[in-house]
Amino acid sequence: MSAATDAVTEALRDLHSRFAGVDEGEIADYIPQLALADPDAFGLALISMDGHRYSIGDAEVPFTIQSVSKPFVYALALSVLGLDEVSRWVNAEPSGEAFNAISLERGTGRPDNAMVNAGAIVTTALIPDTSRTPRFERILDCLSRFAGRMLDVDEQVYASEAYTGDRNRALAYLIRSTGPLPVDPVAAVETYFRQCSVRVTAMDLAAMAATLAHGGVNPLNGDRVVAESVAAQVLAVMATCGMYDASGDWLLRVGLPAKSGVSGGLIAAGPARFGLATYSPLLDPAGTSVRGHLAIGSLSQRFGLHLMNNPALPGSTVTGVTTAEDLPVEPAGERESARRGRAAIVTAQGALDFTAAERVLHALDEPEPEGTVAVVLDLLRVTDIDTVARAMLRSGLARLAADGRRTAVADPDGRLREPGEDGVAPHCFATLEQAVAWATREPAD
Ligand code: DON
Repeated sequence: MSAATDAVTEALRDLHSRFAGVDEGEIADYIPQLALADPDAFGLALISMDGHRYSIGDAEVPFTIQSVSKPFVYALALSVLGLDEVSRWVNAEPSGEAFNAISLERGTGRPDNAMVNAGAIVTTALIPDTSRTPRFERILDCLSRFAGRMLDVDEQVYASEAYTGDRNRALAYLIRSTGPLPVDPVAAVETYFRQCSVRVTAMDLAAMAATLAHGGVNPLNGDRVVAESVAAQVLAVMATCGMYDASGDWLLRVGLPAKSGVSGGLIAAGPARFGLATYSPLLDPAGTSVRGHLAIGSLSQRFGLHLMNNPALPGSTVTGVTTAEDLPVEPAGERESARRGRAAIVTAQGALDFTAAERVLHALDEPEPEGTVAVVLDLLRVTDIDTVARAMLRSGLARLAADGRRTAVADPDGRLREPGEDGVAPHCFATLEQAVAWATREPAD
């Protein structure tokens, strides 16, 4: 854990002391074992994309995961069956209804919303037993990999939930009566009860949320738990459906994909930024932890974490367009430096994705400074180029070359050297000096 004086721990400490005294809300008691929770328990945990862990309060106190399991089992179903097959059985439409609503699509009986109980029971039932691993073991293994440690079941909560779970059984029978339940209702619901009774801490939940935020790779141990596309799909469903009938208001005000559970757990994920979790069992009428909601909402505001509040800073990718005569290289005779002056240089920096590649291509497309005959793309300060940006840069450079512009790339790691789909590769060089020399060579050189 980080030193107590770092900025993130200080922010968590501040939230903890501001909201620990809030005693509004009720502990869930429809499952008798949950009613035994300590109303004062309050913990917060945050895990960064580098796997740095921050926490305050009761972040290591165990409690059962309950509905916070739903997005992770949905992730497993997507991994095993793919989005199209899962969507045949359970939709991902915000239903605006409570977690235990009879929320089924008119006509088909398919659950509307994968995050309410009806949808979650079907999702659980979609996980096939294999010859070696029964359905629940697969679920437990998947939840454990998201958390980065082996989790177990709180058998007392499971027994209590099974004892009082008639509404969920009724839902399962109702779904089967209309068609879309691929297994026996009793088996489906028993597995769902066990999945809800898996024991976690706020720190575990932060790791699970961080794994989704980190494109499906657990940032604590580097384990790829699900594909990047699956992590993105799950975050999308959390953003639109994760907070039941409060999902719209949550996305509007807090602006983060999230999931609540009746035992008091609450997760939120900042895509490519962090996983966050809180534990406090006092719940509002929508079944969300009151203190958790206050803490995450306040953190989101304080650090500008709202998903839609993500201004890309202009100019942060392309640091400058200059001519090569400004290059700090020695020695350069008069002829040599005049020759260098005929190359425009576009210098890029940082990690290049779609947005950054668009900026670079736009800069390459600008009319060349007077007297220049060639353009050189300088990638020396670029830390990473994703596959989309690579393809965009290759085809953009090929288009410039086809338009008759002489182009070269200073690309010491050869990241653009492989030919694109059209078989064309840009001219790449290990140093800027070599790229400029090639781009400004006399035709007879
Ligand atoms: O289905 C149930 O009743 C619970 N085991 C889980 C529900 C839940 O956590 C709802 N979330 N706020």
